Amino acid sequence: MICLGIESTAHTFGIGILKNSKVLADKRSVYKPKSGWGIIPNECAKHHKMVKNRLLESALNEAGIDINSVDVISYACGPGLPPCLLVGAELAYYLSKKYGKNLIKVHHGIAHIEIGRFLNDVSDPIILYLSGGHNCILTFVDDSYKILGETLDITCANAIDTLAREIGIKPPYGQNFDKYALRGKKFINLPYVVKGMDLSFSGILTAALKEFKRGVRKEDICYSMQEVCFSMITEVTERALAHTGKDEVLVVGGLGASKRLREMLSIMCKERGAKLFFTPPEYSRDNGVMIAITALLICKKCKTLPKIKEKILPKWRIDNVSICWVK
Ligand code: FE2
Repeated sequence: MICLGIESTAHTFGIGILKNSKVLADKRSVYKPKSGWGIIPNECAKHHKMVKNRLLESALNEAGIDINSVDVISYACGPGLPPCLLVGAELAYYLSKKYGKNLIKVHHGIAHIEIGRFLNDVSDPIILYLSGGHNCILTFVDDSYKILGETLDITCANAIDTLAREIGIKPPYGQNFDKYALRGKKFINLPYVVKGMDLSFSGILTAALKEFKRGVRKEDICYSMQEVCFSMITEVTERALAHTGKDEVLVVGGLGASKRLREMLSIMCKERGAKLFFTPPEYSRDNGVMIAITALLICKKCKTLPKIKEKILPKWRIDNVSICWVK
């Protein structure tokens, strides 16, 4: 079975082509805002419109196939920015209708999880979903991924990126923030905000910015920010393991690339006798392959295809997705 996946929820327009479990093509183009201050949805959608046909053609070329050989067209139906989601949805509807292919709508966050499961030998993990737009801790129960905890305001990656920009660190923010943090020597107190299983990062960001304005070194701010934020994430992950009795942790999403977070989680998992898994960085970022993988699972393992009427679901919650392919 050949499945084509389209990703367009935010900054990335991606097309992935999968033949059973083999990746045939993975093409992406990332929108970069002119001002450097976050995504402007309509500008981002313009970028997606501009690149979509070229990426489709080059993905088919890389896969060495004709569109007629594709069995299933899938796309990220949500959550995401409506103008961006629409570009992917319209391309998917067009291809499905023109070439008479099945159309599968995929939840973007579930796709991050499924590519993590696909690339790792996990059975029933606690899932840490740590991307720029989402922070939650989940596990599979009955027929869906249940949220055990989540951020109450901004995400950790968002707080780190904003702080990096404000204190004059150049992009890529995540990697350069890591470098500054490694050179930090003095720990400064920042608010540690864990409420039950939920997290909050906006107060830490405000406090860190205040410390910078007071003259604290960038290196010490980055170091302290990482220590506090990653300790909070590690704490709720440990509690999730303790509460559920599970013994695996799977980290999905871009923040999983941070060395210090990996170190903290691996110490905690080692002490508890749990196994720790990460999605490789090249597949942690948004891509079309993860959409195709999820659609393939739906096609192969579900008796009936999910019925979703809406073309896009910008606020689709991850725990509202009925999972028919995980036992
Ligand atoms: Fe994502």
